[in-house]
Amino acid sequence: MPSGMTRAVVAFILMLLASCTEQAPETSMDGIYTAQQAQRGAALFETLCQRCHSVQEFTGRSFDAIWAGVPAAALYARIANTMPLDQPGSLSLPQVNTLMAHIFDENEMPAGDTILDGDMDFMMSITLARPSQ
Ligand code: HEC
Repeated sequence: MPSGMTRAVVAFILMLLASCTEQAPETSMDGIYTAQQAQRGAALFETLCQRCHSVQEFTGRSFDAIWAGVPAAALYARIANTMPLDQPGSLSLPQVNTLMAHIFDENEMPAGDTILDGDMDFMMSITLARPSQ
């Protein structure tokens, strides 16, 4: 039987864990885009990216090889500044956000209630990560 002291410690730890889940998002696993953004991004990817890329290039191990562990801002800048390769800089901010949402969705990073809005300070603070297998 746990002593009263043990129970108090367990209760305290549970409380800490609960408060952790309410903290600001830290990685791309923390619901940083909406399902609707991902849907729009999927359509946009087909129109603007598919002629050169399959989305599989940006998922799973291929994703890990380049993007895992780096700030979301790096992926954002890569897309916004260099893609499409023959028209760099042509994408609007909301377009880049939805394309990122599509890539997150394809990597099984969960969607949430927060719209990815392209805020650079926010994206610098978010580490790219996908579910561990
Ligand atoms: C005209 C062909 C072309 C189009 C269209 C294009 N890309 Fe690319 N993309 C490339 C090539 C080639 C590379 C790799 C060479 C390089 O480093 O520039 C690349 C590299 C990338 C990379 C970095 C490498 C990686 O695997 O993560 C990302 C991210 C990317 N593209 C996303 C996009 C997105 C999103 C779109 C649609 C808006 C897009 N690209 C449209 C040709 C294209």
